[in-house]
Amino acid sequence: MKTAIVSAMQEELSSVLALMPDEHKVAVGGREFFDGHLHGREVVAVLARIGKVAAATTAAVLIERFKVDRIVFTGVAGGIAPGVNVGDVVVAESFLQHDLDASPIFPKYEVPLYGMSRFATDASLTQQLADAARRALPDAKLHRGLVISGDRFVATSAESRALQSALPDALAVEMEGAAIAQVCHDYGVPFAAVRTISDRADDAAHVDFLLFVRDVASGHSAAIVEAFLG
Ligand code: ADE
Repeated sequence: MKTAIVSAMQEELSSVLALMPDEHKVAVGGREFFDGHLHGREVVAVLARIGKVAAATTAAVLIERFKVDRIVFTGVAGGIAPGVNVGDVVVAESFLQHDLDASPIFPKYEVPLYGMSRFATDASLTQQLADAARRALPDAKLHRGLVISGDRFVATSAESRALQSALPDALAVEMEGAAIAQVCHDYGVPFAAVRTISDRADDAAHVDFLLFVRDVASGHSAAIVEAFLG
């Protein structure tokens, strides 16, 4: 059982890499994949970089080249729903691309020719990840549900409100998850994702985000990954 651990940024993954004693670097497609073990389990850790295309490329390489059996994403997100606050943890049950709109040919948000806009995460892997997050961060509030992705850092209260009214069940926004969910759907590979809330995707988002990724994100990711694989 080979598990991919994916993050977008160095700050989100550095503590995970520190837990891998024997990893060796393999460069593919301009990325470094860290192939090795974590708590005795086969792991490939990788920095996808930011955005949907980077995430999709990374997922395809993990599946085609590294033959991973499952993909777990860990990182940060902006809180969208009321009550999803900085420091909370969101485990995704489904993903949607909030910046995808081929209307009027296809319904807004629908991925053309798939006939669907929401891609579910793997139920059992998601349960395992939620259990791990609860063990790792017992004081954090845990939410489960829809996470939305797009190639935009949402940094105004106006945009955040617009997303919330268009997609009232969206818990959080980020820039990669829906792309990986779509690739995993194509290949039939189980996918789960956990995001710690770094900001409220509002007018203060850029400041809150930078402080959170500098000080907190990596430790949270590593704690959850350790609990998940341990
Ligand atoms: N990741 C963390 N915060 C975010 C935000 N406000 N918008 C998009 N992605 C994010």
